[in-house]
Amino acid sequence: MSEKEANPTFSKSTGLPRKRFYRARAHSNPLSDSHFPVPISPGHVDYSLHYPQHFPSSDQVDSGKKIQFADIGCGFGGLLISLSTLFPETLMIGMELRDKVTEYVKERILALRVTNPGQYQNISVVRTNSMKYIPNYFEKGQLSKMFFLFPDPHFKEKNHRRRVISPFLLDEYAYVLEVGGIIYTITDVEELGDWMKACLENHPMFEALTDEELKADPVTKLLSSATEEGQKVDRNGGQTFRAVYRRVAPSL
Ligand SMILES: C[S@@+](CC[C@H](N)C(=O)[O-])C[C@H]1O[C@@H](n2cnc3c(N)ncnc32)[C@H](O)[C@@H]1O
Repeated sequence: MSEKEANPTFSKSTGLPRKRFYRARAHSNPLSDSHFPVPISPGHVDYSLHYPQHFPSSDQVDSGKKIQFADIGCGFGGLLISLSTLFPETLMIGMELRDKVTEYVKERILALRVTNPGQYQNISVVRTNSMKYIPNYFEKGQLSKMFFLFPDPHFKEKNHRRRVISPFLLDEYAYVLEVGGIIYTITDVEELGDWMKACLENHPMFEALTDEELKADPVTKLLSSATEEGQKVDRNGGQTFRAVYRRVAPSL
């Protein structure tokens, strides 16, 4: 019997980790100081830990290949897994605040790599607070896509400062996105959808994608179908509110 078969936290049939062994609190406070390691700059992110097949040793961080997609508040990792095979040459990372959820995603990716040799080598996850540490992970203009799918709504006005989309944070996202890079947002909370859209609409470095562009983008379909939260909303017949914007060059 293999180590995984004997381990009840993994499904015997699929070899994947079982979610019920990674129960986590529904929310973590993004404004509290949690303790996890933070790289002091993007050059200090150890790519060999995240993508060992692409970076067999930690000296190869300068090989030119960098993370291009970031799934902010990735939850249980469904989007990363769908994107992995759609963009096999692109390095992607999920950023997640809750430790057990991050641990689950880590195990899920490792298990998928074992059951599908050669695949899922381009995705990884890190436990961090994206509201504080985005510039520690990404250089100016490094990212081509950022995802904010079903973020926590933080309904009360005094908690709006905990929202992962805000005018202040959009300055940071505009910094790490390349010109032409895209921010995808979706929620089932109408008020939050209006908020995210208004923040993006009013920011000088973002413009909305047209309906034609949205239809032509294969990623748009995944926004509600690929993530665990999106599937839940779908099962319950809930409505979703989407805002997808492109990073533009500053007007002179
Ligand atoms: C409602 S869940 C959505 C998860 C996933 N995107 C989905 O659609 O299934 C929101 C996730 O964002 C995470 N989160 C909230 N604030 C965060 C922050 N500041 N940094 C990183 N993750 C955060 C939460 O822990 C939670 O897992």
